[in-house]
Amino acid sequence: MLHKLEKLPYDMDALRPFISKETLLVHYGKHHRNNLDKLNELIKGTVFENLLLDQIVLTAPSGAIFNNAAQAWNHSFYWKCLSPAGGGVPRGAIASAIQRDFGSFGAFKIEYARKALSTFGSGWIWLTLDDSGNLGISSTQNADSPLARGVTPLLVLDIWEHAYYLDHQNNRAKYLESFWHIVNWDFVAENYALALSERPFRIAHVRLKQAPEYAAREAAAHDMSGIEKLGSGAAAVLRRATSWRSPTAMRPRRSWAFGGGAP
Ligand SMILES: [Fe+2]
Repeated sequence: MLHKLEKLPYDMDALRPFISKETLLVHYGKHHRNNLDKLNELIKGTVFENLLLDQIVLTAPSGAIFNNAAQAWNHSFYWKCLSPAGGGVPRGAIASAIQRDFGSFGAFKIEYARKALSTFGSGWIWLTLDDSGNLGISSTQNADSPLARGVTPLLVLDIWEHAYYLDHQNNRAKYLESFWHIVNWDFVAENYALALSERPFRIAHVRLKQAPEYAAREAAAHDMSGIEKLGSGAAAVLRRATSWRSPTAMRPRRSWAFGGGAP
């Protein structure tokens, strides 16, 4: 399956003055595209060749395939977290959950900013939902994704410098300030509603990561040569892993069908 760069949900200059067209041309048009091009190259002839993007993120061991798949998935998610009509405050159930778990929307923003400004180097800042129904703020380094950790992402901020250098140079705080003006709270609310209604799907993530076959494969295959050595055994693990998602109770989320052609 060829993973294609999906269309941005807005025009290149629609996020101005908070994110410029120049930034999107490089960030979306080069960085994101590059991750997909590399991924398509890397998965040729491997057990990952016919998997959807999120299935690769869930099953690939540490290494280039995971990095490019996760980075592509994270970027697709990030574009949807932004909107020219965004900003303001969340409404409805997600607003209540933020108030419940952080005390207030203002306290949530302070905590999110603290995480964004204290995280060293490149990565992503997430609002997530765990399997106990609690919201949390966390960071992942480089290409890592909460998908691979069994929690559900609701919102993300890309803190790689390529996300803000053209607009704010190295001033991450200015970029964060801009971010609050364009957060797509409707998308966050939709993710929250889906996560609550599809709990078995999230449990499947945890089961996948706890599977002994996965642990063995993770230990044995830190690069593609490891995967090749495992051969059909790895393919069998992948078949079992992906079959956990095939029943209707675990159908892929429609908002998560990022990058790639038809399954
Ligand atoms: Fe990025």
